[in-house]
Amino acid sequence: MQPDHVRIFDTTLRDGEQSPGATMTSSEKLEVAKTLSRLGVDVIEAGFAAASPDDLRAVKTIAEAVGVTGVEGRPVPEPPTICSLARAHKPDIDKAAEAIAPAKHGRIHTFIATSPIHREHKLRMTKDQVLAVIGEMVSYARSFCKDVEFSPEDAGRTEMDFMYDALQAAIEAGASTLNIPDTVGYTIPAEFGERIAMIRENVPGIENAVISVHCHNDLGLAVANSLSAVQNGARQVEVAVNGIGERAGNASLEEVVMALYVRGDLYGIGTQIDTTQLTRASRLVSKVTGMVVQPNKAIVGANAFAHEAGIHQDGMLKHEETYEIMRPETVGAGKTQLVLGKHSGRHAFANRLAELGYPVSGDGLDKAFARFKKLADKKKLITDADLLALVSDELYQPKEFWRLDAIQVGCGTGMPTATVKLTGPDGQTQTAAEVGTGPVDAVYKAIQSLVHVPCTLLEYTVQSVTEGIDALGEVSVRVSPHEGEAPPDKINPQYEHSRARVFHGHGAHTDVIVASAKAYLAAINRILALREGTQDDSKAAGSAA
Ligand code: KIV
Ligand code: ZN
Repeated sequence: MQPDHVRIFDTTLRDGEQSPGATMTSSEKLEVAKTLSRLGVDVIEAGFAAASPDDLRAVKTIAEAVGVTGVEGRPVPEPPTICSLARAHKPDIDKAAEAIAPAKHGRIHTFIATSPIHREHKLRMTKDQVLAVIGEMVSYARSFCKDVEFSPEDAGRTEMDFMYDALQAAIEAGASTLNIPDTVGYTIPAEFGERIAMIRENVPGIENAVISVHCHNDLGLAVANSLSAVQNGARQVEVAVNGIGERAGNASLEEVVMALYVRGDLYGIGTQIDTTQLTRASRLVSKVTGMVVQPNKAIVGANAFAHEAGIHQDGMLKHEETYEIMRPETVGAGKTQLVLGKHSGRHAFANRLAELGYPVSGDGLDKAFARFKKLADKKKLITDADLLALVSDELYQPKEFWRLDAIQVGCGTGMPTATVKLTGPDGQTQTAAEVGTGPVDAVYKAIQSLVHVPCTLLEYTVQSVTEGIDALGEVSVRVSPHEGEAPPDKINPQYEHSRARVFHGHGAHTDVIVASAKAYLAAINRILALREGTQDDSKAAGSAA
């Protein structure tokens, strides 16, 4: 039977995490999974269990913590289905089965490429060989789990006749969801929609399966292609929060959900997502992946509900619907509220955080409250945006191998200099001073002279959390560690593949130089955590409920 709503299959933790620099720790992944559950997503693709022991553990932890009873605040009674990706390969399927086992509803998602270019150059397999693997591996996955999804990778460039054969082989072997990925983001909406219609007409048994789509955004058409597929009968859409994912990303969860919501008149079918949680999910994913959301991003961008032009403002004052097709509250982007100040107590602080979706307690609350008090001394009015920056700065940081104790800079037209005092992994404090091209450069050089984790700064962004001279500054950085420069005795096998990776870090402070130092140290701590295989020890573990 076909579902009565469009299933939202979220792949933020799998395809999304494949974005350069978006690596998350296991605790961050768990926080994201809880948020996805509160959003009401139907399926969480929690990872690719065979990729590494860490990935397997992360999927299993999510299956246990989110996949058994769901989490408080989930808008639907059943917990989400927890899914692991697996190549059409027995060892991958074994790992996926092990990882999802604790979940009430588990799914194995297996795939093999079907397009001529992939068959000839990547797989070096004939059509018949590919069909044989599909039949064999889908039945193998079915021997562990009744819910199996199959994807013919690069379906967007696969010959239709062969795609029908591949999908039929998967259905006969027991797959109940058939996902059609536009892996390289090549198709355009009318064409992709027609492919879905043709699959519905030509694949025997398809009426008993759910058609899913997974569109990449290389031409900026991922959301449009997904919606065109829905109009042609797809009943599951694979998406990622903020549209993150390989290369140009995946279809954005919030855009697909809100298009179906706002244009329900046209689509006649919606999702079971609690749209008021969208902004919060977007902020969390942006924080833990270090992928900044562009201000003009649909639904969750900072300007998505800002009206600048005089004519627009005049219209809005007369009637909101003149220039607004949805209310900001519908996506959880209510107006910034002035909530707390210097005299607010711990209880009011904890309550407000809980209302914002961060039920912090214990040690996490103590630390966040201490930071709040310091901030309230400098800044008269603390807004929700300040609180969110502060709490995520406190909670979503990697294990602190190196901690910033003090910083002093001298800058101007002469020689910018910086002195930093850090506490190292051995608990000893060390001080260094350096000259740079500017104060941030000098700070980063001084930090490097103590930590010795050579890396290239790929990206540095600073933004103000709210308006005003006393606003918190939030800095995000992306760094790439230099190949081959990790001490050989410190290399965790998993680090081998992290050498080519990008690591992010963020920091918030009223002084942007301090925020810059914190962001850089956070990125360095991430590199060290992965090198030593201790990334699970992030501060977030146990801090947020
Ligand atoms: O883009 C893609 O083809 C994928 C598959 C594994 C579904 O991510
Ligand atoms: Zn993909």
